[in-house]
Amino acid sequence: MCGIVGAIAGRQVQDILLEGLRRLEYRGYDSAGMAVLSDDGQLERRRAAGKVAALENALKEASLPGCLGIAHTRWATHGRPLERNAHPHMSGNKLAVVHNGIIENYESLKQELEAEGYAFTSDTDTEVIAHLVAREYDRCGDLLAAVEGVIARLDGAYALGVVHADEPQTLIGARKGSPLVVGVGIEEMFIGSDPLALLQVTDRFIYLEEGDIVRLTRKGAEIRNAGKAVEREITTFEHGDGAVSRGGYRHFMLKEIYEQAGVVSATLEGRLTENHVLTRSFGAAADTLFDQVDAIQIVACGTSYHAGMVARYWIEKLAGIPTQVEVASEYRYRDVVVPRNTLFVTLSQSGETADTLAALRFAQSQNKYLGTLAICNVPGSSLVRESELSLMTQAGPEIGVASTKAFTTQLVALLLLALALRHQRQGNDDVQANAVKALRHLPDVLKETLALDSAIETLSAAFAEKHHALFLGRGPQFPIALEGALKLKEISYIHAEAYPAGELKHGPLALVDSEMPVIAVAPNDELLEKLKSNLQEVRARGGELFVFADSRANISEGEGVHVMTLPQVDELVAPIIYTVPLQLLSYHVAVLKGTDVDQPRNLAKSVTVE
Ligand code: AGP
Repeated sequence: MCGIVGAIAGRQVQDILLEGLRRLEYRGYDSAGMAVLSDDGQLERRRAAGKVAALENALKEASLPGCLGIAHTRWATHGRPLERNAHPHMSGNKLAVVHNGIIENYESLKQELEAEGYAFTSDTDTEVIAHLVAREYDRCGDLLAAVEGVIARLDGAYALGVVHADEPQTLIGARKGSPLVVGVGIEEMFIGSDPLALLQVTDRFIYLEEGDIVRLTRKGAEIRNAGKAVEREITTFEHGDGAVSRGGYRHFMLKEIYEQAGVVSATLEGRLTENHVLTRSFGAAADTLFDQVDAIQIVACGTSYHAGMVARYWIEKLAGIPTQVEVASEYRYRDVVVPRNTLFVTLSQSGETADTLAALRFAQSQNKYLGTLAICNVPGSSLVRESELSLMTQAGPEIGVASTKAFTTQLVALLLLALALRHQRQGNDDVQANAVKALRHLPDVLKETLALDSAIETLSAAFAEKHHALFLGRGPQFPIALEGALKLKEISYIHAEAYPAGELKHGPLALVDSEMPVIAVAPNDELLEKLKSNLQEVRARGGELFVFADSRANISEGEGVHVMTLPQVDELVAPIIYTVPLQLLSYHVAVLKGTDVDQPRNLAKSVTVE
């Protein structure tokens, strides 16, 4: 996490950097800072605790003129979110560094530097990099060589931006384990944690690879890796820049919830025939590879993990392939027994989540998997580039920290995967034809579901004063309940848990009383009657029920039972539809509570640290 932006240009860079930080705020918003080299060779810095707006205010009071600079928005790992821990970090008054990632061996490096008399002014791991590079620069007099020498000593993950007052024509970038792109302008060059940060100045990018270090001048980029010069392709970003505005919505999250019908359509586009899913959508090698799959291992984090949990139900039901799902941070440290011919599938909105990426690399290093597939929303991300097969969700940039449209498009992509695997095994059949019909109808049903927004807003008042909530679902709706609970806790700070409804009587029922609202998702599926019995158990203990149900479910409103009727929908796609009211509920509860909906406390959108 943390966002990095840097620029070397023939014009003033302060506002370019500031705009870049605003666009990167989704990566962290604990504190922000900027260092700019003035035309008379002074390296000046401004920093502020809090959001980028606080830095903007500091810059209004004292601007930073100059054509070379770096800036940073922080998600705290080492050291509290105070001004003194904000980046850039400096060594003396000539060298400044911004860093995204974690330096694991910083303590021993710090001891070494302190022994030589270097004074530390922050609690961060980053400050060691500043002093190490300054020391190395004093020895060799070349900033690229100095950074190259230092990164050889760093354990952990980093993306870096470095400037030195004695090299006014140089901006250095480096990446290992954290993303960094180079933006290519006309007689000006940039670095950024992602292309979004730089779309206001260029649409041409170089995606740096693991271990790359780059020296930027206004004329171009010199890239090295493992001590050798390397060439990297320049690609044009073709997704436009419109997604970074709220477009009339009060919050990005609400805009993104409302975009779901459109982005689900986009995710289906070109991937369906009349009666089956085109396996080729997963890449040219998918036909051959899918034929050989005997097992699937899905790995992801957070919301993406919940999507994987739904996929398990779909893949086992439709394709009969045993499927395991695990959070990446656990999978990567386990002695995994890999069944023969297992396809390794990662799910990620950003494609840069450190745990998921490390899990992929761990899986590849084991050499035991049939192949790797990434289902991802960001083209060109590390996960996509490092996987053999990929399927892009077409959610477009998701800015709200709480994932919404990325989740529903992941679900669509995973249903496509389950259907493609079924097709590879048994050719066309009615199950697939019906599923294709349901998928094509999905955007319309999503629109109908979104029409419940104001009714859900009214309902949300019942939650604003509560401290706890319990979500229930059965079968593939259990992960949807988990996702509903995650949404509520991350943006409204209400403690929420989710259980498969049948598990209630094994413990959590003890928590149920009139102060614990219980939310249930009740589509018209084969587990409906079982779920209804579980809901009776809640009611019998005085629990207040909020049920999102199919009109055929025959659940009546009554004392302590609130029912919100959803459009009738095919059982297979119901998890996608039932997600939406839970997103809206969390959103409205958070608005009522006055929390920061798009940037909830302590979180960041892209989790690029372990
Ligand atoms: C959910 O709302 C969060 N944004 C979070 O759980 C997220 O899904 C997780 O960090 C994984 O991110 P990814 O999909 O970009 O890998």
